[in-house]
Amino acid sequence: MKSAQYIRLACVLGFLLLQAALAGTKALAESGGTPIDTEAWLRYAPLEADSARKYAQLPSRVEVLHESLVLDTAQKELIQGMSRMLGHNIQAGSEGKDVFLLGTLAEIHKLVPELKLPRLGADGYWLKAAKVRGYDSFVIAGGNDRGVLYGVFALLSNIAREQDISKIDEVDEPYTPLRWVNQWDNLDGNIERGYGGPSIFFADGKVRDDLTRAGQYGRLLASVGINGCTINNVNADPRVFRDDFIPQIKRIADAFRPWGVRISLSADLSAPKALGDLDSFDPLDPRVAAWWKKKVDEIYREIPDFGGFTIKADSEGQPGPSTYGRTQADAANVIARALQPHGGVVFYRAFVYNHHLDWRNLKNDRARAAYDNFHPLDGQFDDNVIIQIKNGPIDFQVREPVSPLFAGLHKTNEAIELQITQEYTGQQRQLCFLVPMWKEALDFDMRIDDQHTPVKALVAGRVFHRPTGGFAGVANVGMDANWMGSPLALANLYGFARLAWDPDLSAQAIIEEWTRLTFGNDPLVVRTIDSMQLRSWHIYESYTGPLGAGTMTNITGNHYDPAPESSERNGWGQWHRADHDGIGMDRTVATGTGFIGQYPPAVQKIYEPLASCPDELLLFFHHVPYTHVLHSGKTLIQHIYDSHYEGAEQAGEFIEQWKTLRGHVEEARYSDILARFEYQAGEAIVWRDTICNWIYQLSGIPDQKGRLGKESRQP
Ligand code: GCU
Repeated sequence: MKSAQYIRLACVLGFLLLQAALAGTKALAESGGTPIDTEAWLRYAPLEADSARKYAQLPSRVEVLHESLVLDTAQKELIQGMSRMLGHNIQAGSEGKDVFLLGTLAEIHKLVPELKLPRLGADGYWLKAAKVRGYDSFVIAGGNDRGVLYGVFALLSNIAREQDISKIDEVDEPYTPLRWVNQWDNLDGNIERGYGGPSIFFADGKVRDDLTRAGQYGRLLASVGINGCTINNVNADPRVFRDDFIPQIKRIADAFRPWGVRISLSADLSAPKALGDLDSFDPLDPRVAAWWKKKVDEIYREIPDFGGFTIKADSEGQPGPSTYGRTQADAANVIARALQPHGGVVFYRAFVYNHHLDWRNLKNDRARAAYDNFHPLDGQFDDNVIIQIKNGPIDFQVREPVSPLFAGLHKTNEAIELQITQEYTGQQRQLCFLVPMWKEALDFDMRIDDQHTPVKALVAGRVFHRPTGGFAGVANVGMDANWMGSPLALANLYGFARLAWDPDLSAQAIIEEWTRLTFGNDPLVVRTIDSMQLRSWHIYESYTGPLGAGTMTNITGNHYDPAPESSERNGWGQWHRADHDGIGMDRTVATGTGFIGQYPPAVQKIYEPLASCPDELLLFFHHVPYTHVLHSGKTLIQHIYDSHYEGAEQAGEFIEQWKTLRGHVEEARYSDILARFEYQAGEAIVWRDTICNWIYQLSGIPDQKGRLGKESRQP
């Protein structure tokens, strides 16, 4: 057995033993006795007496200005949070005393006409310390009921993070109206690319009898402003449309409704045929249109606040309109028209590509697919269709440029699809906080018509004044007590939602919120965890795939282990084109696949010339010899060696950094996370050695620092 494999085996065994030892011990503690895991960042841990004193003057009553399911939730959440964090026993009803006043702006105005009201859109909220009927009170106003609930969560978050709210006057509104998560759950209970246990919705081909976890998930989502959830895999099972299944789905909608989260379904376009109702699913066949209308009407009878559909078509074996020579717009619109009278929407995925590409043809390029398929259709989609575009043109790799399609649709709604579940970024077994990566994509300036046109503004419909837009995050939480298989990975779910609410938040601000809410306010804990999270993406990138080379993982297998040759010589199109002389995909207009030509001219000018292409994306755009000198002054091959060695070393340092928190983090949680870092350190060495040895054998150029073969043997 090779040394890297020994290391790995030892790490895996250690990790499993620790897991076994911990099983059965419930993670309690910093929360003062409540199980912390399922509550994630909503632990409402009791504040130290000193800190709690700041909030002594908060009202003792809560008054809700109209009755509704969501306001009722808001009231209960407020009462619970105040009691758990501060020991305040808040009573419902005003009794002419100081109150938390919960209602819409119009209602607040009626009761307190002297208050100068802000402008507030749907889902927005206003937190204001104010006098009501002569008493020091606290207004939580919403643009709608959901906004009030979001306001309550914001107030409780402020308290948990020990912020000063005595003079608060805060208006906050979401950047974009549609903030959804997608779950890739199958009806048998498995989750495609899920690393946190089985589905919280389905088991054995049915909706689970016990939907407690679904309700808890609704609470988590609402607390960070998520207002929609697609509950089944995009590789969709048509059985969700069976008459006997819809009442089951209704039960999930019922579990989410108190939290203001609408459910939606992934739809298999061939459902009219697959279910045996028709002999066709041609979107232009009137019988097919009638089938969708009837089915949608049936769903809305059971679920009046149903959100709509997410659709993956003509992709990775999924049926699509190409079967009948129809366009993606034909397919999207037939379903959108059925949803339109009910206020539903279609998130139509741009992830349409041919996975049988001829790899021998150097002009073929999977990265081109989304733009080639959808740009020509711009303007042909109905107003309630949103094109859901993955952040990069390939598939959630550790480093990709943004998809040029964001700049390629001017008359069509867009949403950005981000992957919270860490399919290609360590599968929640390794730390990789993705917010810094997502921020780079959202802030990227497309320079359309040489104007400032960042991706975030494009997906929110702000640039071309389109009707709607949004964010979709592939979350894939499961039944594991901590939802995602790793407590630290939850920062990605939290971070996705916070960016969907406000993409201008910094990664630092987001992680600071999450750490305080999850681990408490001990400055050492906050500083240490924030810093580890913020560096983790670059560290992971540096030992798994520097310079934008595309995936080095086992692409035909588990998408986790290093297996750089698996990308080549097949039709999946995740090629890095490494040979004896060089590496990288030539995507230039001049000599390559022409992909760069899909960007607006100002962006082309950055990527096309080698001289201006940023190092971190060099191999995504150019094929260069191993001796090519980077902007840093290093040769490409030496950079690859150094990056893998430095990355693996930094991953190893996580262990010591984490150990500084012993005694500051509750013991079971401390040990659990420590075991994860020990495991990651071993994995990083496996990656380092596999990739460095592979590229050494290909290139024949040794490491200048002579490290190869010293710490590990040749394969
Ligand atoms: C990736 C992933 C698949 C998923 C697909 C998609 O290719 O590996 O599991 O179905 O993306 O986004 O549709």
